Amino acid sequence: MIDTNQSLKPDRPNIITSEIKAIGFYRKMDTQAVVTQMLSGQYVLIEEFYSNGLQVLSELKRILQLKYKEKSFQGQRNYRSAFREASHRILLQVKDNKLQVKKCPDIGWLKGLYPDISDFFISFPDVQGLNSSWQWYQRGIEIPYLNLSIHPYYGSYFPTRFDHLILFGKWLKTYKGNRKKAIDIGVGSGVLSFQLIKNGFQKVFASDTNKNAIIGVSQESVRMGFGEKIDLSFGDLFSGCDFLADLIVFNPPWLVAKHSLEEGIDKAIYYEKELFPRFFEQAKKHLAPQGKLVLLFSNLAQVIGADDVHPIRKELENNNRFKKELRQQCSVKASSKKTKRSNSRKNEKVELWILKHKEM
Ligand SMILES: C[S@@+](CC[C@H](N)C(=O)[O-])C[C@H]1O[C@@H](n2cnc3c(N)ncnc32)[C@H](O)[C@@H]1O
Repeated sequence: MIDTNQSLKPDRPNIITSEIKAIGFYRKMDTQAVVTQMLSGQYVLIEEFYSNGLQVLSELKRILQLKYKEKSFQGQRNYRSAFREASHRILLQVKDNKLQVKKCPDIGWLKGLYPDISDFFISFPDVQGLNSSWQWYQRGIEIPYLNLSIHPYYGSYFPTRFDHLILFGKWLKTYKGNRKKAIDIGVGSGVLSFQLIKNGFQKVFASDTNKNAIIGVSQESVRMGFGEKIDLSFGDLFSGCDFLADLIVFNPPWLVAKHSLEEGIDKAIYYEKELFPRFFEQAKKHLAPQGKLVLLFSNLAQVIGADDVHPIRKELENNNRFKKELRQQCSVKASSKKTKRSNSRKNEKVELWILKHKEM
């Protein structure tokens, strides 16, 4: 384990630590009047019950939907931005790292992410985000077939569909090469690294540009007893990795970014055009002569009608670095039986690509 990760501080929602002037909101108050004041810039502090916050939030939604009727892309964007701005003025008070309203969820992140401070104010939407993340973290996510349960840290990417992971897991069982060293680029919740170790790899170097992913996997790997086997690096691609690997795995973002990327989950979903050329250039230098490069990808871009060029095909067609050994595809199942997918996502397929060095 790389020691520098010990000093990483997680990204966490902003909080207010000073006294604030706010309208206290109680259930019997005139919600519309309070929201109107909030829209003019005032803070609202939720009192009594957690559900009072939901009441204010839903009134805010109603009022803003009347104002932003435009259904165009820009119109809806304006609505979301106004909603985001105003809803963050709905506050909850935290004392001793606990919410100060009745019937509220018990959220461990209020302590876990704020070990340095116990009393503060935090926005209601941020509390909702923390609560949902805490549920996933505590319950864990069972990955079928792989005999693996992951506990994703706040603010890190985690899978909710598993077909691509199972495709990789099945291939890994058939893998005949060395199992000394592997590299996992974009470790996320650690799911690929943990699979590699469970399948006999002795050392995994794993990187991510998301701090929270590194902190989470660092804690989780200790909990699983894999602490000595995973070296974590908070940084870009292969930075900090000084060995040649038998296997390099990368489950990259699957969509080209048409916007400027934010830190965090955004970079798990979208990629800048230069990501893949940079990845292949560096992978060439880090793959052992007989090593395999494993990429997980999907036709999601095509399915949603984006004009993205397939970055793996592009690499194989335009450069002399790698050649294809195998490409497998499988359809994506809905994430749960209750989830109804739109027709277009029914055509979604995930892909497993195995590449090796091209002999010159
Ligand atoms: C689709 S997620 C995959 C996470 C995990 N490996 C999995 O299979 O569930 C992609 C991950 O790559 C990370 N990432 C994106 N760009 C990166 C870069 N340039 N260097 C390292 N990690 C990156 C993201 O933060 C995210 O955690």
